[in-house]
Amino acid sequence: MTALISYDPSAALATQPDNRFVDLADALEAARSEVLADVELFKRGVVPVEKQPLDAGFVTWPADLLRDAEQNGPESLIAEIERCAARLRQVSDSAVVLGIGGSYMGMRAMFEALCSPFHNELNRQDRHGIPRIYFEGWNVDSDHQSGLLNLLNRRANQASADSPDGRTSIIVISKSGGTLETAVAFRNFRGFVERRFSDAVQDLIVPVTGNTGRLRDLANSAAFKNVFSIPDGVGGRFSVLTPVGLLPAAVAGINIRRLLQGAADMTEHFRTAKYGSNVVLDSTAVVHLMEVDYGMTTRVLSTWGSRLEAMGLWYDQLLSESLGKQEKGATPITCVNTRDLHSRGQQHQQGRRDKLITNLLPGRSRHDHLGIPARDDDFDQLNQYRDICIRTVRDAAIGGTNQAYAEDRRPTADFRLECIDEHSIGQLFQLFMLSTVAEGQLIGVNPYGQPGVEAYKRNMTAILSSS
Ligand code: PA5
Repeated sequence: MTALISYDPSAALATQPDNRFVDLADALEAARSEVLADVELFKRGVVPVEKQPLDAGFVTWPADLLRDAEQNGPESLIAEIERCAARLRQVSDSAVVLGIGGSYMGMRAMFEALCSPFHNELNRQDRHGIPRIYFEGWNVDSDHQSGLLNLLNRRANQASADSPDGRTSIIVISKSGGTLETAVAFRNFRGFVERRFSDAVQDLIVPVTGNTGRLRDLANSAAFKNVFSIPDGVGGRFSVLTPVGLLPAAVAGINIRRLLQGAADMTEHFRTAKYGSNVVLDSTAVVHLMEVDYGMTTRVLSTWGSRLEAMGLWYDQLLSESLGKQEKGATPITCVNTRDLHSRGQQHQQGRRDKLITNLLPGRSRHDHLGIPARDDDFDQLNQYRDICIRTVRDAAIGGTNQAYAEDRRPTADFRLECIDEHSIGQLFQLFMLSTVAEGQLIGVNPYGQPGVEAYKRNMTAILSSS
């Protein structure tokens, strides 16, 4: 099993003369108790009006699901997801995941972190029969949508009619079942499947949706081979470890049991470890302290290597939609280094002193052996670094960047993963979700619901109706 993620805020705390981390112990203990008490309230189904909405179901969900698998084996939800994923791998060579916001960003994060960066370029054999994975319905962009439809159409033309090689499956994900972006894309992709694979429509389309809504109504009437439910009480951006993320992840060959185990382990750590050695409580205290006491209202998640960029974007959404309320909440920014040292780096080193930089350090690489080869001509004078691994260069960049920030009293903290795998990614999801709701307790903001998002939807619908 991969070790738990560790957290080191010492460089951030050293930038402030009056290190107040210890003073926050009681507040953090109270926040933890409140988060856990909310889970009990939620489970009992008695939620006082002032706590609504209370979508606390995500906290125990991973452990609940693993227990279900242990007790019910082939009848469990995990087994059903794995069977459906195996079936989709057999019947299709491309899988399109339709969804937006919480119904999209978590799977995108897993795909980028856990699959080959060139997965879709590989042939079926090198992909071990795993379909190419595409994402749509997360925008209203006709060039992107028609580009993908044309590509899938060409693939269907090139393959023989009954071979999976030219076939596309669709996983359409919407909790409300009425989100316009996803619904528009679903019309087009459903139409494509109906036209091209009319013999297998029910096999190739899998809805993942809430218990009510238009997509649920369709799922109830259309005899799709599989339909998955998004549980009540798990909000959109907290739903990555429900069928929303688990089904497409399983299709992509990701081990969803290890993912859930990582999340369950993080919940247990949150529940039991003391303040001062609790990754969730400690990191929540530091971001809170830095923002509220020292004015670091911009939170930079600095990911090292491109595999964690989409994880950062998932966190951007989680933080923005959960705590960006009542004129409060920090502004999240995701960086990919060293790429962004050549763009945002200048500002982070010498710009406004409003940033806490938290590094997400990925640990071991999958291909640690790749290095800097020697050359006889040494035209670029890199022979001085001959045989040094690229990972060593990256680690020097991390050390050098942290040192440069520290020398100018710019606060940094480090999350350290042992490596990027299912267990650590499951931990990371749960860590950020728990930390976000605990921070909500500290600043008096309900992290669930996103009333502010309704305004643009109302206006968009009104403009569309009058055009
Ligand atoms: O966090 C949320 O609830 C939102 O980001 C939703 O996930 C997003 O708006 C998509 O909603 P739906 O799944 O209902 O289509």
